[in-house]
Amino acid sequence: MKAVVVEASQEVALADVPEPAAGPGQAVVDVEAIGVGYVDVMALRGQYAPFPGAGSVLGLEAVGRVRTAGPGVPEHLVGKRVLALPDFGAYAERVAVGTGQLLPAPDGADPVDVVALGLNALVAEGALSRTGVSSGERVLIRGASGGIGVLATQIAHALGAEVTVVTSSAERGERLRKLGATEVVDRTQSALPEDAYDVIVDTVAGPQVHEHLELLRPNGRYVLCGGAAGAPGTETFDALLRTFHNSPTLLAFSLNSLTPEDRRRSWDRVVGLLADGKLSAVVDRSFPLTDAATALQRVDRGQSFGKVVLRQG
Ligand SMILES: NC(=O)c1ccc[n+]([C@@H]2O[C@H](COP(=O)([O-])OP(=O)(O)OC[C@H]3O[C@@H](n4cnc5c(N)ncnc54)[C@H](OP(=O)(O)O)[C@@H]3O)[C@@H](O)[C@H]2O)c1
Repeated sequence: MKAVVVEASQEVALADVPEPAAGPGQAVVDVEAIGVGYVDVMALRGQYAPFPGAGSVLGLEAVGRVRTAGPGVPEHLVGKRVLALPDFGAYAERVAVGTGQLLPAPDGADPVDVVALGLNALVAEGALSRTGVSSGERVLIRGASGGIGVLATQIAHALGAEVTVVTSSAERGERLRKLGATEVVDRTQSALPEDAYDVIVDTVAGPQVHEHLELLRPNGRYVLCGGAAGAPGTETFDALLRTFHNSPTLLAFSLNSLTPEDRRRSWDRVVGLLADGKLSAVVDRSFPLTDAATALQRVDRGQSFGKVVLRQG
C-alpha cells in the first residue's frame, strides 16, 4: 500500500510499504481522511521525541472504516466508521490501531470534518476541563486560529465564558468572532492583551509565556497545551513567583496522559457539543495524500486557519 514516509533529508515521500496486519486487540482501518497538525511538522524536523524518525510514516489521526478485526476484537466493529489515533502511521491507505485508540465517528458526519475535530477537539476540551472553567469567566486563547485554537474558542464560548483571542491578523480575528470570540488581540499590532483573565489556553508557548502568565486574575489557571513557538522561556517560573499573591495555577496538558476511558468521555462531550450545534469543524483545506508535502508546508508557514486535512484519492 502507499504511505507518506519521512526521509533522512527531513522531506516526505510517497512510498510502497507493507500492508498492516491486525495483531491481538487491533483493527486495520481503511483511511478516508487524515489530520495534519503542527506536531507532524515537529516530527518531520526531528523535534518530536516519540517519532521514530527516518523511514517511519507520519500521522497521529485518521478517520475511516474498520476493515479487519484482530484476535480479541469484536467482529461487529468491522465496517464501522471510526476516528483512529495511532501512535504514528496515519498518512497511509490503511493503518493498524489498538481498539483503545479508536473512537466512534458521529453518525452521518463527513470524515474530513470528523478528523478536523479529532485530536484537536480532545486537546481543546481536555485543556478547558482541566482548568474547571465556568460560565462568565474570562478566557484568553493563544494560537486561536490554529487547529486546536478554533475549537478551544468555540468550546469556551459554549461553556459560557467570555472569550478573548490572540491571533495574527484582523481578518483572522473576524473569523474568530464568528466562532464565539468577543475580543480580538492582533499579536502583530499590539504586544500583549491588556485585560486580566481567569483562564489562559496556550497552544503557542515560546518566550512570551511569562508575560501572559502575569495576565491571570487571582486564582487564575494557565494551561499549556502546545508549543508552536517553542519551549516556554526560562522566566516562566519568575512570573509564577512575582504573581504568587494571586495563587496562579500553571498546568500542562497532553493527550498522552489520558486513559482510553477519559479520552472516550472527552470525545462524548465533543460529540454532544457537535449534536447541539455548539461546535463545528473548521477545515482550512483538504489535499490528496499525494500532496502531503504541500499540506505540511501550509501548517509550517502558519497559513492555515483551522485544520489542514489529507484525503485518499
Ligand atoms: N497537548 C496535546 O496533547 C497536543 C496534541 C496535539 C498537538 N499539540 C501541540 O499544540 C500546538 C498547536 O497545534 P495546532 O495543530 O493547533 O497548530 P497550528 O494549527 O499550526 O496552530 C498554531 C497557531 O499558533 C499561532 N502561532 C504560530 N506560531 C506562533 C508564534 N511564533 N507566536 C505566536 N503565535 C504563533 C498561529 O495562530 P494565530 O495566527 O492565530 O496567532 C498558529 O495558527 C503544537 O505545538 C502541537 O504540537 C498538543
